[in-house]
Amino acid sequence: MILKEKINSLYRSYYRLKVKVFSSTKVHEAIAKVPILRGLISYEGNKIHEIMSGFVYTQILHLLIYLDIFQFLKKEGRSLDEVSKFLEIANERSLLLLRGGCALNLICYKRNKYWLTRVGAQIVGVPGLMDMIQHNQILYRDLLDPVKLLHGRSETELSQFWPYVRKGGEKKKISTKVSSEYSKLMQTSQRLVADQTLQAYSFKGVKSILDIGGGTGAFLLAVKSKYPGIQATVFDLPNVINVAKNNHQKIDDIVGLLNFCPGDFLKDDIPSNQDVISLVRVLYDHEDSTVELLLKRIYEALPKGGSLLITEPMSGGSKAMRSSDCYFSFYTMAMTTGKVRSFEEHKVILLKVGFSNIVKHAVSAPFITQVMSAQK
Ligand SMILES: C[S@@+](CC[C@H](N)C(=O)[O-])C[C@H]1O[C@@H](n2cnc3c(N)ncnc32)[C@H](O)[C@@H]1O
Repeated sequence: MILKEKINSLYRSYYRLKVKVFSSTKVHEAIAKVPILRGLISYEGNKIHEIMSGFVYTQILHLLIYLDIFQFLKKEGRSLDEVSKFLEIANERSLLLLRGGCALNLICYKRNKYWLTRVGAQIVGVPGLMDMIQHNQILYRDLLDPVKLLHGRSETELSQFWPYVRKGGEKKKISTKVSSEYSKLMQTSQRLVADQTLQAYSFKGVKSILDIGGGTGAFLLAVKSKYPGIQATVFDLPNVINVAKNNHQKIDDIVGLLNFCPGDFLKDDIPSNQDVISLVRVLYDHEDSTVELLLKRIYEALPKGGSLLITEPMSGGSKAMRSSDCYFSFYTMAMTTGKVRSFEEHKVILLKVGFSNIVKHAVSAPFITQVMSAQK
């Protein structure tokens, strides 16, 4: 105890010294005279600049997509004149945008023309990525007054985009148009989440899976393509199930591959006797009390030994991560009920509900999703 207090006190002294040194312009001037230290200070200065510039970067990306520049460059390189003609704006203005895109390594300038870089080509090629990027404009509008948002005093646009987070009567009035809009976005962005999840978690020997909040069934189709013998059921709100069935009727090949179960996961019966129940990008939409209730209902529905699979962006906890602790946390906050949880925070609720064998499964791209499982 005494040792711990001594270490804490040492840390406080070190902290006061650090703040004093690095906030002093005199020290900066002195450091600027020492080559190695000068490098460190300008490296950190650049970091501050990068953070400050983030919003401008997103808007350059938005313009390149919204004004169809990426599509225009997809086939071949284009000169400044060609781009300006395409955009119907002066060369001077197109040049600003093109140079911004080059600085972000989204496009490049070679042989007097502008071309897509590898990163730019991925943005054009990954299904749904441009729609996903574009829908962030809603989040940016909600972030216009971040203080109000942080205090929870904002009426947000994202809570209209994801209307199932709204309370009572308003939730009941969700139109099919709105359900199909958010479901389409989820469906097209599912491939990367499913790839990561299937790399991390094995369904070997699993006979049946129920995907709660499964949207239009994109995750289960990915599971079925790797494990064709598995019985797969999607559970989602009736509107979404209608959208899903409609989609699947249009694509003859997959009719009959999935079972559909319409319902509200907080009220309606959850099909029992499933080997695995999955929650793919579901829990982070909801506050703790909703999550606890849903997990309790899932626990009751699972047979003894049955597994729960959770895959969604997770907080880095004490080792905060930009993707989840900046982007997804503020996104879900703007949804009003959402919350990005760390593995440990999920674990606390899972243990409370009765689950055991709680395991984290390693993924290669944690900014897309993180995977954990638990057992009844
Ligand atoms: C963020 S989306 C994720 C969809 C899908 N799992 C995916 O990753 O693409 C959350 C899903 O949960 C569904 N959902 C939300 N509240 C629900 C409720 N009370 N009962 C059933 N489904 C619900 C939504 O309709 C939506 O399809």
